[in-house]
Amino acid sequence: MLLLFLSVLLTLIYCSHGDLIADTCRKTQYPLICISTLRSNPHSRSADVKGLVRFILKAALGKANTILNLANDLLKKTKDPILRQSLDTCISVYQDALDEIPIAIENVGKNNVEASDNASATFVDADTCEESFSNSPFAADNKAVKQLAVVAEDIIGSLG
Ligand SMILES: *[C@@H]1O[C@H](CO)[C@@H](O)[C@H](O)[C@H]1NC(C)=O
Repeated sequence: MLLLFLSVLLTLIYCSHGDLIADTCRKTQYPLICISTLRSNPHSRSADVKGLVRFILKAALGKANTILNLANDLLKKTKDPILRQSLDTCISVYQDALDEIPIAIENVGKNNVEASDNASATFVDADTCEESFSNSPFAADNKAVKQLAVVAEDIIGSLG
């Protein structure tokens, strides 16, 4: 009986203390990538909502870097003019993203409207890269960048 009481009490404390990651991610359009990204970062346990959105943006930055490196590698290996054109497009937009995402991170909590604009520009970059191929070699990573950008915008929007 006492054990039951204690476990109910502990559950109540745990739930009322809340799970900021779950609560924050639930309000976004892509809760799954939001939760898995934040749970994989040990620092996010002690972060506030602004910290969480910065971690989401950092994850997007990591993916953007990965795509940029892959695109540069592929460009060195292919002579196919159509593929080269698509890769050039991706390299150009992801170079922009590598500027926009750190600015978005900077702006979170200081200028949320701009932070949101910069995250939205990153979404457009990933979309532009993806649409430049008929058969994208970066489909999964572009999708991740787009979803992380939307999650970031959703969370920034909740900051007011
Ligand atoms: C970030 O967003 C603001 C507001 O739209 C814009 O003026 C600025 O150029 C953006 N910065 C980058 C690096 O895209």
